[in-house]
Amino acid sequence: MTLISKHFAVIGQPIKHSLSPHIHLLFAKQFELLIDYEKVEVNRETLLNRLDKFKSKKYSGLNVTLPLKHDAYLLCQELSEKSKLCESVNTISIKDNQFHGDTTDGIGLIRDLTKKGINLNQARILLVGAGGAANAVIADLIECSPSELHLTNRTIEKSMVMEAHWKNFAEKNSVSLNISGNHGVDSSNYDVIINATSAGFSSNISPIEDILVNKKTYCYDMTYGMETPFMKQAIKLNATVFDGLGMLIEQAAESFHIWHKEKPETNKIKSELKLLKLI
Ligand code: ATR
Repeated sequence: MTLISKHFAVIGQPIKHSLSPHIHLLFAKQFELLIDYEKVEVNRETLLNRLDKFKSKKYSGLNVTLPLKHDAYLLCQELSEKSKLCESVNTISIKDNQFHGDTTDGIGLIRDLTKKGINLNQARILLVGAGGAANAVIADLIECSPSELHLTNRTIEKSMVMEAHWKNFAEKNSVSLNISGNHGVDSSNYDVIINATSAGFSSNISPIEDILVNKKTYCYDMTYGMETPFMKQAIKLNATVFDGLGMLIEQAAESFHIWHKEKPETNKIKSELKLLKLI
């Protein structure tokens, strides 16, 4: 009997430092599954053409990362309810020549927060950023029933667009949704502050003011692989600080589940990546 490997890839730009292939291969080992998983540099202009190539080469699935998640949402023939809500796709399953899009970022974030002992039910959450990353996780945050979800962004107009998009969903879930620009956030205590901006890549200043952080605050940065100015600020102010590596692993586990119908064990992945000197 010949064992046939299923093909997967993560696509985006830049893609060189992606940990996704390693994480998926570690998951596959847990179930003795034969897969190969590449990273392929794809930009917005070439996405459509590249998707057709993956289809003709009989790939089974793709992970989609920046800056392609919204474009992937527009190009998939079928979408999960969550993808439709978030207008974002990070997991594509290719079946019968069709692309089925899903998003696992939100569930990845919530599972990681839960594993870290952070309960969002009735919590006051400050979500920083109003781009693709913030919009990909907000539905799952709302579904956790925080008492308040405050959106803040450098460009307040983008928070206003975001508020208009999510208002009904928040109301349906009885969550109070408020917005302000980066300098207009009130100084009341937030239990959890989530940085969903890309500020860490371009600036050495945190997108929020010191006054919002204290030693009881959980500060979570969705970025991984670097200590961002937001994380440095939180450390300086004695808050509890996490980067987004756990979220990356948990969202990958959910993608793996969608493709292989198996739930991988995620607890050891960080130490396995360390052993492989990948982090
Ligand atoms: P992503 O898909 O990573 O969210 P994006 O859609 O380009 O990428 O959004 C980037 C987010 O990071 C935006 O909220 C952006 O703020 P603006 O809407 O004002 O551009 C935020 N951001 C990027 N650099 C920032 C900085 N130096 N300070 C504060 N916010 C920043």
